Amino acid sequence: MIGLRGISKAYGPVTALDGLELDVREGEFFCLLGPSGAGKTTTLKTIAGLERPDSGTVLLDGED
Ligand SMILES: Nc1ncnc2c1ncn2[C@@H]1O[C@H](COP(=O)(O)OP(=O)(O)OP(=O)(O)O)[C@@H](O)[C@H]1O
Ligand SMILES: [Mg+2]
Repeated sequence: MIGLRGISKAYGPVTALDGLELDVREGEFFCLLGPSGAGKTTTLKTIAGLERPDSGTVLLDGED
């Protein structure tokens, strides 16, 4: 349902996401855990379309 393919995002010199690969399937309960600054919010904003990745593809139901 949600697919992230090679998502990278930098804020200036800070690499927030580096080639992230992720699949969340329909009906799956998915938790995103990690220390502060790991890139959780950047990941969610990218899925929501609030951040544009520098590279990579966001798939929703298989569509870019
Ligand atoms: N708008 C921004 N401008 C500059 N740097 C940013 C911006 N947003 C995030 N960053 C940096 O990108 C990295 C990832 O941040 P992000 O907010 O995605 O982490 P997080 O996992 O959500 O952290 P937290 O648990 O503190 O909410 C951090 O180094 C952060 O400082
Ligand atoms: Mg956060």
